[in-house]
Amino acid sequence: MEDINETEKQFTSMPRIGDKAPDFEAVTTKGQIKFSDFAKDKWVVMFSHPADFTPVCTTEMSGFAERKGEFDALNTELLGLSIDSIHAHLGWVQNVKENTGVYFDFPIIADLDMKVSKLYGMLQPNESETAAVRAVFFIDPKKKIRLVMYYPLNVGRNMDEILRALEALQTSDAHQVAMPLDWKKGDKVIVPPPKTLDELNDRMNDESLEKVDWYLAKKNI
Ligand code: BEZ
Repeated sequence: MEDINETEKQFTSMPRIGDKAPDFEAVTTKGQIKFSDFAKDKWVVMFSHPADFTPVCTTEMSGFAERKGEFDALNTELLGLSIDSIHAHLGWVQNVKENTGVYFDFPIIADLDMKVSKLYGMLQPNESETAAVRAVFFIDPKKKIRLVMYYPLNVGRNMDEILRALEALQTSDAHQVAMPLDWKKGDKVIVPPPKTLDELNDRMNDESLEKVDWYLAKKNI
């Protein structure tokens, strides 16, 4: 019984929204990193893929590579991970570059001992005991986890949604507002609901707001 609990525990570390991102050291395609020293003052989008040299993963990693400029523009570093050796990573990066011209120009962790995968709940044993699921962690410059996505092995992620969510988080922080359904850059944003009667009166008199009712008002930023 003791053993079963211990096994379960090592797979169930699951960082949640608002948690400090767990620190680790790892070997990557760009050399050794210590996460707490990585991408100082920047956002990090850390993502796992199940395995090198597999079709869905190749499309996803190519998607990250092709849109890296958009992550750069959002002050964000990419950090990939799979439970593969550094040699497999290097071979795959080179193979995709030769076949398609797309170059994975961001560090990819070689997590052969599964240390980082377990720390971040990327190893979900009822899906696979040996391959990481498709996880995405959005981590802010204070190394706080702000959004988490998990996808199964057989469904690729949506790069537009990853970029949209990142921009929504950053815009929400910058303007102290919330983002409505399907928000994208240029759309109106939600003004947080009033907390006092004075704030409520101000809101009702504010002609610049688009109001559905006192608790749902939008504005341009
Ligand atoms: C893929 O990337 O195609 C893949 C990887 C692991 C399991 C299933 C699909």
